[in-house]
Amino acid sequence: MAKRVLVTGGAGFIGSNIADELIHRGYNVTIIDNLSTGEKCNINPKAVFIKGDVKNPKDIEKCFTKKIDVIFHIAGCASTIKSFDDPAADLYTNVLGTINIINAAIKHKVTRLEYASSMTSYGVVDKIPVKEIFPARPIAYYGITKYSGERYVMATGIRTDLGYRLNTTAFRMFNVYGRRQSLTNPYQGVVSIFIGNAARGEDIKIFGDGEQSRDYVHISDVANAWIGAINNPRAYGEVFNLGSGIRVSVNELVDIILKAFGTSRKKHRVSYFPVRPGDQRHMQADITKAKKLLKWKPEMKFDKGLQDVINWAKETCG
Ligand code: UD1
Repeated sequence: MAKRVLVTGGAGFIGSNIADELIHRGYNVTIIDNLSTGEKCNINPKAVFIKGDVKNPKDIEKCFTKKIDVIFHIAGCASTIKSFDDPAADLYTNVLGTINIINAAIKHKVTRLEYASSMTSYGVVDKIPVKEIFPARPIAYYGITKYSGERYVMATGIRTDLGYRLNTTAFRMFNVYGRRQSLTNPYQGVVSIFIGNAARGEDIKIFGDGEQSRDYVHISDVANAWIGAINNPRAYGEVFNLGSGIRVSVNELVDIILKAFGTSRKKHRVSYFPVRPGDQRHMQADITKAKKLLKWKPEMKFDKGLQDVINWAKETCG
């Protein structure tokens, strides 16, 4: 019988794309989402949907009317900026929510848990590309809570007092982009923010000098890593960077996107604003470990992935 995967945050950008791919590959899927940023239209009709919050153990309990074999814990507050506006909300969802999921996993003897960690766990980096063994020195409150959740998950994975083994994996995701990333939410990823701005003819805002850089990884590659790791014992107890291994500056990103819209800075206004708190300067993933242990590598070329999001944005924005 096909395995059943519980996807927390399965109405959001990352969770819904992964849920779709799981269903496409023959898994049964249960989704829990509080629809705070996730959208109902993202939920695969073949999934069992529970509207609920990971902060509430009673809501989580509702997901276990069918036997869950695997949990993908993706639900979370996903904004560095909002984590400064409301640190307690970020803490409750990202840390307490994770503890609640772990408790439910143990109660129901779930044997596999994969966790959505973040490259913001690294924070201050001495050199790039970053390897998983580099120190975690998050500088955004968000990074602190994602890293903390990661540690709870990984520490549970080595507990010997449970009477069974909960096999855990954490993915430190770099800047994931793709269809369904919000084109209107200024707190989601920069790729979709700029594409939304360009599609609607709005000014593009750059925070800082635009020379900060990020590693953009397509959602299809992220889904491959998560799903491919389910039955791979070499992934148990491990943390992996999920990035493309390629670094692009924010200025370059603006130029690439404007070009894809057939325009340029000469015609489209780009303005500069002060750097925001918690902003990391440069980020680039060393993906050697994922390549070796997961036999994974990013397949989607940035220009192709970007064009796909742009096509989707044009359909969405009209
Ligand atoms: C992002 C995600 C975070 C995720 C992490 C790792 C968001 C808000 N943050 O962090 O959840 O864990 O990647 O995958 O989704 N920028 C502009 N103008 C804008 C928007 C952004 O100049 O309108 C700049 C930012 O200041 C930053 C860079 O673009 O320097 C990337 O920003 P963004 O994608 O929003 O978030 P990260 O901080 O990289």
